[in-house]
Amino acid sequence: ARADIGVVGLAVMGRNLARNLARHGHVVALHNRTRARVGELVERYGDEGEFVAAEDAASFVAALKRPRRVVVMVKAGTGTDAAIEELLPHLEEGDIVVDGGNAHFEDTRRRERDLRERGLHFVGTGVSGGEEGALLGPSIMPGGSRESYDALGPILESIAVDVDGTPCCTYVGPDGAGHFVKMVHNGIEYADMQLIGEAYDLLRQGLGMEPSDLAKVFAEWNEGDLESFLIETTATVLAKVDAATGSPLVDVVVDQAEQKGTGRWTVQTALELGVPVTGIAEAVFARSLSGAADQRRAVRDAGSLPGPSGSLSPQEAEGFVDDVRSALYASKVVAYAQGFDMIAAGSEHYGWGIDKGAMATIWRGGCIIRARFLDRIREAYDRDPHLASLLLDDYFAGAVADAQDAWRRVVVAAVRLGVPAPGFSSALAYYDALRRDRLPAALLQGLRDFFGAHTYARVDREGIYHVLWSEDGSEVRQDAEAG
Ligand code: 6PG
Repeated sequence: ARADIGVVGLAVMGRNLARNLARHGHVVALHNRTRARVGELVERYGDEGEFVAAEDAASFVAALKRPRRVVVMVKAGTGTDAAIEELLPHLEEGDIVVDGGNAHFEDTRRRERDLRERGLHFVGTGVSGGEEGALLGPSIMPGGSRESYDALGPILESIAVDVDGTPCCTYVGPDGAGHFVKMVHNGIEYADMQLIGEAYDLLRQGLGMEPSDLAKVFAEWNEGDLESFLIETTATVLAKVDAATGSPLVDVVVDQAEQKGTGRWTVQTALELGVPVTGIAEAVFARSLSGAADQRRAVRDAGSLPGPSGSLSPQEAEGFVDDVRSALYASKVVAYAQGFDMIAAGSEHYGWGIDKGAMATIWRGGCIIRARFLDRIREAYDRDPHLASLLLDDYFAGAVADAQDAWRRVVVAAVRLGVPAPGFSSALAYYDALRRDRLPAALLQGLRDFFGAHTYARVDREGIYHVLWSEDGSEVRQDAEAG
């Protein structure tokens, strides 16, 4: 046995990871359900490093040094279970199976448990950065046993992208922790993209700017605090002209956003955990609404839902680009704060002990949400690892406070223009709710007590109370202490 690591599943992500591993001096065994893919890879990229082309699962496993390290890169779901089933008869105690797909963290927990019972390690790992990242350096988020990370971590760290001398890969936590963090990463990616979409829409509708001009605005923003892969990519996509029609590409693409599931999972899980990830939820619902093609067409055809006739005043228009930039930044801070709250809640619920600062560190490069901004988040957690909200960190509190007047102007402008901005406005609502001294939840508690005797707590005394609404209206104490 001479291979350091094996890759099962050689579609584009698996192939690129295998090449990345080989380029970093690791001997890589290859296995794919369709054998031809193995040969193809070796033929085309064989000179990039050392590959071992396996005939079947048995010879693939036999080619690996122990403890064996096998990375499974197949379509998430039943494909992963099938790949594991095929390997199982050949693996031995202490071997490590890595799932690098976008698996649901509950599936990862189940697989980890099943393999642990057989004396094997299962590592569910987030891999972000798309095809190019897989080849040139992704951000890697592995979850599983500590012991497995000792054997696997150095190899993963060697292929992850490096930012300021630190690899964008670290041990996340036990069982499903890695895939949970990747899921939240994707949720934040959804929120980020929704906010960018709103910024584009507001500028285009509010100022009548063309995509080519907007590309310049985004490119300029990419020079400042907003610098990130997604802003840079927005500039590229907006500048793209469709060869067939000569129109901006963005005008010929069907305006229905698709989704493969990780954003939806983030929101479903957040509902279970009770974490208000409003930015991610708005982003998922905005995609759903865009995809409701029949309904949208029926409304358009009926022409019965008029919009406002308002436009920006010359004075509003003058500072609008800067205002939208500020609103985007502030909303983005909220979306990330919510995402990190979700990581904290998941970590607490499942006992994972996730280091939030370390997550910000490994998201600085390689992944889709990579941004200058993540350095600020890492610094915030360096200052206080137990920060109750990113919004409480001095830097972010200051940034949002500076942005808030512009943020409010933009939300008002969106309403007046009839441009939907659910991301901007829900982020602002979250900010306002969080900072308020008293919330109308007190009234809700009163209503709940009225119609369901659901009781309430008081601000001035211990205990649980209920009003005898249908009797004499007096208040009674209802907890154990009640005398
Ligand atoms: C990444 C991306 C990648 C992909 C997601 C989102 O981290 O490299 O998040 O995983 O873009 O699958 O896809 P959808 O938008 O199709 O849900």
